Amino acid sequence: MSDELRETADRLVANGKGILAADESNGTMDKRLDEAGVEPSEEMRRQLRELLFTTEGAAEHISGVILYDETFRQSTSDGTLFPELLRKQGVIPGIKVDTGATPLAGSEGEKVTEGLDGLRERLEEYYEGGARFAKWRGVLGIDDHHPTRYCVHVNAHALARYAALCQQAGIVPIVEPEVLMDGEHTIDRSEEVTGQVLATVFAELREQRVLLEGMLLKPNMVLAGYECPEPPDDEEVADRTLRCLRRHVPAAVPGIVFLSGGQSDEHATARLNLMNQCGAQPWEVSFSYGRGLQAAALKTWRGEQAETAAAQAQYLHRARCTGAARRGEYTPELEGEPVGT
Ligand code: 13P
Repeated sequence: MSDELRETADRLVANGKGILAADESNGTMDKRLDEAGVEPSEEMRRQLRELLFTTEGAAEHISGVILYDETFRQSTSDGTLFPELLRKQGVIPGIKVDTGATPLAGSEGEKVTEGLDGLRERLEEYYEGGARFAKWRGVLGIDDHHPTRYCVHVNAHALARYAALCQQAGIVPIVEPEVLMDGEHTIDRSEEVTGQVLATVFAELREQRVLLEGMLLKPNMVLAGYECPEPPDDEEVADRTLRCLRRHVPAAVPGIVFLSGGQSDEHATARLNLMNQCGAQPWEVSFSYGRGLQAAALKTWRGEQAETAAAQAQYLHRARCTGAARRGEYTPELEGEPVGT
């Protein structure tokens, strides 16, 4: 069992490759479709996922795709189940298993992620269906008084319970404690909070006997809030992020797979690239981007059949740029290359 976990985790952070997070819940996906001028429906969600997963050449840069339960059970228009389609391309199917962040009792404005009820049985079913890794996201907001220790602790505890159950089912857990960018906070404060969160998460993971070699960490980069009056440059983000991770993430963890978290596509790519240019780290430094890989494609597609090829070219372009950043070989000139070439 532990060999299988290690092998899956290593494959997910193979050189030059990273993860596509296509696991938006139906509510989030519908909001994104609506913003792109697409009438949301189960069929349009399916069509967008088919467009992404059938993009030729993307598998050179994408090691795994995180799916949402609905997508996990959907098929291409010619009837191939999505997990099977991905597997045939050598891409590992993954599954989001949390059921979302809900208000935390007794602490106004804070959230705890739920989804532990029945998780053992759901994991067995997902494994049967081909999933070999999973995701659970805890969310932590920053202001002068938040996150509270209480909120950090309950989210860390749930993340560790989820991770332990995944490993028992032969599934690699991606542990995602996301510190949000909303607000005016400085990069100093983000580094402090991210450090406290990671320390708490790894203490819980250890307590609950999670095999560190058989998991991946999906953290935020250390960033100032959207409304911070003095935003840091890319070098500072890369330096602070690596410093914070080196202080808190054990070397036994095979890989860090960042979320893009509301950064522009170019920032998310350039910062990942800078980190990969800083020399060898104790773990692989990779990506698990949602918006950072898909946003441009969705904007181009707009639900129009005639735009499918152009949207696939946009997705492939982002996958190539991000794959290059994963190797520390990204240059801004790559952004200028015609898409789809
Ligand atoms: P973003 O890259 O859009 O932040 O999404 C990644 C993700 O999976 C968040 O849970």
